[in-house]
Amino acid sequence: MSKKVAFSGIQPSGVIHIGNYLGAIQQWVDGQDKYANIFCVVDLHAITVPQDPKSLKENTYRTAAIYLAAGINPKNSIIFVQSQVPAHTELAWVLNTVTHTGELLRMTQFKDKTKTGSDNASVGLFDYPVLMAADILLYGTNLVPVGEDQKQHVELARNLAQRFNNRFGKTFAIPEPIIRKSGARIMGLDDPSKKMSKSAGPANYIALTDSPEIIRKKIMRATTDSGTVIKFDPKRAGLYNLLTIYQLFSGKTEAQIEKHFIRKGYSNLKRELADLIIDKLTPLQKKIEYYMKNKRLLDQVLKSGAKRADKIASQTLKEVKQKLGLVA
Ligand code: TRP
Repeated sequence: MSKKVAFSGIQPSGVIHIGNYLGAIQQWVDGQDKYANIFCVVDLHAITVPQDPKSLKENTYRTAAIYLAAGINPKNSIIFVQSQVPAHTELAWVLNTVTHTGELLRMTQFKDKTKTGSDNASVGLFDYPVLMAADILLYGTNLVPVGEDQKQHVELARNLAQRFNNRFGKTFAIPEPIIRKSGARIMGLDDPSKKMSKSAGPANYIALTDSPEIIRKKIMRATTDSGTVIKFDPKRAGLYNLLTIYQLFSGKTEAQIEKHFIRKGYSNLKRELADLIIDKLTPLQKKIEYYMKNKRLLDQVLKSGAKRADKIASQTLKEVKQKLGLVA
């Protein structure tokens, strides 16, 4: 029996933080032998909000470098850049014609990003979930490993696949999200009531590229409470978040961690957590830098990935065009 297809993507829009790493990249690495994996750098999603062209290019390379540094093997998994495979935008247009505007108006991410009520958000931002559906549906994807916040977008991809199949005959596989329980939501360090986010400012996150000094400073200043006992208690959001990060980086169980911190205080926990993060990120940073200094190597990986992706995607697109009665 052939393996299930898993597809996921990250936007090359600046900082990649430990929330992205623990909530997404690490679970991809863990699943890489179990599934047939496709990992995309979604640059066309990034440009739905303004990007500086030079930084976009650099960030696209860096995202690919992070995939490789984290341990994704490009011999088995496909790693590619979205804009290098034209079928993504072509299928997105077709899917636009079966998407209801009401469906997109209900997307919570779009609503959040346009909360200020101004009407200068791009049409691309509104259409973002349809392009994401195209990403997923082009590859016969069965599984989409993402963070909790992307669940609604995957749900839309499922609905569009079903609607298209009903109207035009079975074409797309129906994808399912895989949401990792712990780590699906790493919260902000200075505001543990909300997801860790690069837009909330540098005190909120630890970037994969932060130096040891910065990591230590941010962890020591992280919001906790006035309690003393170190326990995994979701009601104590700040402490719970630090313990979750500890758990994901250490691979230890909750019981082991609680036992380890018996009769120790928050500052102890913070010191040990900072050490642990620095320990885990330092080798990763070295590898990222290695790839960033070897862009020719990155180009080769991405070119061969795009070729493999294009082969699958063009086939799906051809079938879609035939079903629609578009001359292809
Ligand atoms: N929207 C996703 C995010 O911001 C990124 C993404 C784009 C994606 N296309 C995808 C994730 C397809 C999974 C599958 O996290």
